[in-house]
Amino acid sequence: MQTPQKLLLENRAWSEEISKKNPEFFKLLAKEQKPSFLWIGCADSRVPADTIVNAQPGEIFVHRNIANQVINTDFNCLSVLQYAVDVLKVKHVIVCGHYGCGGVKAALMPQSSKLVITNKWLMHIKDVYRLHQDELDIIPDDRRLDRLIELNILEQLYRLTHTSIIQASWKHGHKPTLHGWVFGLHDGLIKELIMLDHNTQINPIYRYHD
Ligand code: CO
Repeated sequence: MQTPQKLLLENRAWSEEISKKNPEFFKLLAKEQKPSFLWIGCADSRVPADTIVNAQPGEIFVHRNIANQVINTDFNCLSVLQYAVDVLKVKHVIVCGHYGCGGVKAALMPQSSKLVITNKWLMHIKDVYRLHQDELDIIPDDRRLDRLIELNILEQLYRLTHTSIIQASWKHGHKPTLHGWVFGLHDGLIKELIMLDHNTQINPIYRYHD
C-alpha cells in the first residue's frame, strides 16, 4: 500500500544508501548547486525529470506544470527561467513533453464546468490547436493528439525566445541552447524535436529593442 509513511521510510533508505556509497555526497550537495540544465516538463507522475535521464541531485533545475507550458504571464515559470538563466547560468533549457499527455488531450475536448481554473491553463493549448487547425484536422484521429503534443512543445520553444530573459541572454549573456524533447511512455525513450540557439531568427514583432 502507498502511504506517506512508506515514502519517508524509502527516503531514509535512499539517504543511507547514498551515504554508504559516497560519505561526502550530502556535504557537497549542501554547499551549492551548479546545474547545467533547466527542465520544463509536464507534471504527469509518469515523466519524472531526473529519473528518465538518470540524473543525480544537483544536475537539473526543474519546473513542471500541466502540459509543460511556458506562459508569458506565469510568474512561476518565468521566475524559474530567470533564476536558472541569469543566476545559475544553465547551458541548456529543455522543454520535455510526452506522448499521451492528458493535459493536451483535455484541451481538444469541450471545457469542463468542474475545472474552471484548469480550463484557463489549457486554453493556451487550444490556441496552439487553432494555430495549426488546417494541418491537424486532416490527420487521422489516432495521430492527431501526438501531433498536437509535438506542436505544443515547439510552441513553448518559440515562447521562450519571446521572453526578455532569453533574448537578453542570447545578446549579452552566456547564450543557453533551447531544446524541445518528447518522451514516449511506451518505450521510455526521448526524441529531440527542435533545438534553437542564439543564431535563431526571432519574428520581429516579438523582438525587444536593445
Ligand atoms: Co502531460
